[in-house]
Amino acid sequence: MPVPSALVCVRCGARQPVDHYAEDCPACRTKGVPANLTVAYGQRPGEGLKRNVPSGSARSMWRWHDFLHATAEEAVTLGEGNTPLLPAPELGLGDVWIKDESRNPTWSFKDRLGSGALTMAKRFGAKVIASSSSGNAGAAAAAYAAKAGIPCIVFTFVGSAGPLVLQMRAYGAMVVTVADKADRWRLQSLGVRELGWYPTSPFFGPVVGSNPYGMEGYKTIAFEIAEAFDWQPPDWCVLPVCYGDALYGMWKGFEELKALGWIDRIPRFVAAEVSGSLPAALSSGDSMPPEVARNAPSIATSIGAAQATVQALDVLRRSRGTAVTVGDDEMRRWVVALAAKEGIWPEASSAAPFAAIERLRAEGTINPHERCVALLTASGLKDPGPIESSLPEPPLVTGGLPDLLAALKNAYGFAHG
Ligand SMILES: Cc1ncc(COP(=O)(O)O)c(C=O)c1O
Ligand SMILES: [Zn+2]
Repeated sequence: MPVPSALVCVRCGARQPVDHYAEDCPACRTKGVPANLTVAYGQRPGEGLKRNVPSGSARSMWRWHDFLHATAEEAVTLGEGNTPLLPAPELGLGDVWIKDESRNPTWSFKDRLGSGALTMAKRFGAKVIASSSSGNAGAAAAAYAAKAGIPCIVFTFVGSAGPLVLQMRAYGAMVVTVADKADRWRLQSLGVRELGWYPTSPFFGPVVGSNPYGMEGYKTIAFEIAEAFDWQPPDWCVLPVCYGDALYGMWKGFEELKALGWIDRIPRFVAAEVSGSLPAALSSGDSMPPEVARNAPSIATSIGAAQATVQALDVLRRSRGTAVTVGDDEMRRWVVALAAKEGIWPEASSAAPFAAIERLRAEGTINPHERCVALLTASGLKDPGPIESSLPEPPLVTGGLPDLLAALKNAYGFAHG
């Protein structure tokens, strides 16, 4: 296991101590470009390993502990990671693969973040975990805090998806609802700064991203993809993006493999988002993504923030990637298509990458022969509401076979034989 030596700014490289709470870079904030920190190590992650020899036997993402900040033995783990990478030929999107993160312990990719962050919280002796989250990050924080035996407070706001909040409560988190979104950070930052609570989520604005140790967990998505493709990375990785934690983490993972010579190129990244903040920054050339107000809330509440981050923009620029803004109708359509054609029911936000691939293939940005991996970040059970009205209402059948066949025809257009 490489030993963390500093938390460094993703933008200017300034160094902070390793036990620095997950705040941003003071120098970049003063310049008006708030930027997140990332973990630097005393030695190169993976140094001395051989490519085809598995680095560990743990049945979790901590199999890659030679690239991470803790050993598999020390880690707070629920068996996250090692998710399937499945071909999706029925979608009509060409060579597209689904990295199905809905198979994680709390049914989202945030488990990698939760495991990475709670492992450090435990090492630092945190007495309380604090998260501001409308959904998946809070559910993961709650589950991993339960596993670590550390009390967890999650701030949500009025209007969060019911199943997700119930999930947090089931894991024993103390869920607190606030009327105004901004109030979550006011309260959480008081807890962090005055009471020493350990934050696993953003807790001040403008947001820079999440806990750096949590984000290390996302590197393992890149490792798993590279390994599954026999170290030939896909041409494109397409993600639903809010603050770009997973985007940055995956990119960093590929960078580390390239530095070791295990792969010879980094995939290009696409951010599928709902606000328009990243496309605006890419076309204006600004260093800070702007805040883009929406007229109505998106059905993809998990990625509903109005402003993206420097770390997300950075990865798009460095990988020669792009960003696509997707709408509710497209996401609804792709949720239903994924469930009906590939047997995987994603949360609305997780359908965004497929809408993005469709558009980028059509306009020729992604070439027909190029391979894409879409990150399917969470299960549809987390927030089933958005597609309910798109599905046929199940008919009530009380009679015999003729009535049953008539009902199947009426409701589903099914004709037997
Ligand atoms: C299901 C889902 N997909 C995507 C995202 C975007 O996450 P990130 O902050 O890593 O861009 C989130 C989270 O906030 C999420 O819950
Ligand atoms: Zn900086």
